Amino acid sequence: MNNLQSTTQSTETETGLPGQFLNDVITGLTSSPKYLESKYFYDSIGDGLFQQIMHCPEYYPTPCELEILSKQTDVIIDLFMNSNEGFDLIELGAGDALKSSYLLQSMVAKNIDFTYYPIDISANVISNLEKKLPLHIPGLPIHGLNGEYFEMLQKSNTLSNRKKVVLFLGSNIGNMFPAEAEKFCESLRENLSSGDLLLIGFDLKKDPQTILDAYNDKQGFTRDFNLNLLNRINRELGGNFNPEHFKHYPTYDPGTGSCKSYLVSTRQQVVNISAGDSSIEFKQNECIHMEISQKYDLEEIEVLAHKTGFKPLEYFYDSKNWFVDAVWVRE
Ligand code: AVJ
Repeated sequence: MNNLQSTTQSTETETGLPGQFLNDVITGLTSSPKYLESKYFYDSIGDGLFQQIMHCPEYYPTPCELEILSKQTDVIIDLFMNSNEGFDLIELGAGDALKSSYLLQSMVAKNIDFTYYPIDISANVISNLEKKLPLHIPGLPIHGLNGEYFEMLQKSNTLSNRKKVVLFLGSNIGNMFPAEAEKFCESLRENLSSGDLLLIGFDLKKDPQTILDAYNDKQGFTRDFNLNLLNRINRELGGNFNPEHFKHYPTYDPGTGSCKSYLVSTRQQVVNISAGDSSIEFKQNECIHMEISQKYDLEEIEVLAHKTGFKPLEYFYDSKNWFVDAVWVRE
């Protein structure tokens, strides 16, 4: 799985913290308006659906960022080397490390002194990376960290005192509301030292239709990705959602840059969640907010950097200027 924005992801099955998933679901569904947290999309079925989304012709962010990291690899690595010292390359939510592997491959080939620390909330992801990555990239120094972002960042500080380069790719920051993104960058700053670098991916504002299509693919994988969370609640929390009674409704507001997905109840209905002893009432057309995928422009990115104690060093764009990987230095 991909850890995404999560700083608190906890489920019984994944981290042994009982009840966190249940609590968050009940809190969200008893709020007004109703919401669910998109970090819970990523169980094993959700992971598979997200892979399918990334292969959809409409879902442009992945190929855009792959283009950046595969074509501008050397310039990016040169920036990492600006102080000519060995460093730790820390990836937040490493997932399958497909995007970062362009950098890793090239850094190993150049004999650069670094250790790769992938952080992921999924133990499975970390053990797979430790097993498989060194086979693809012989000689890769890798030390997986299984847990939450900031806890694992602190742990990495106890393992090494070298300069840090942090990767936060895939526009995962888009899954935070802008105020949360700001808090996140502030916490990141607190966990880094002056001179450390952050490579952070942002999906950019563009033709609104292009964005909307990316979250409404014709094959319906994005719809199923959203509905899977209802099924996950059924499976893990004894819910009785009927996904056929909810309609996937993605929106994009070109004014704010907020792309939001909703599930809309197509009828009046009551859903029971036995693990929480709860009955949730839905009016006809009442919606559940499922996900935000915030889009940025360059000015907003610069403001975010300056507000949170980073200085922008360089911006790397794809050839369509649809996506940017920003490199910031922690002041
Ligand atoms: C993994 C958070 C970057 O918001 O674009 C893809 C997740 N949701 N399609 C995104 C997602 C619907 C994705 N991120």
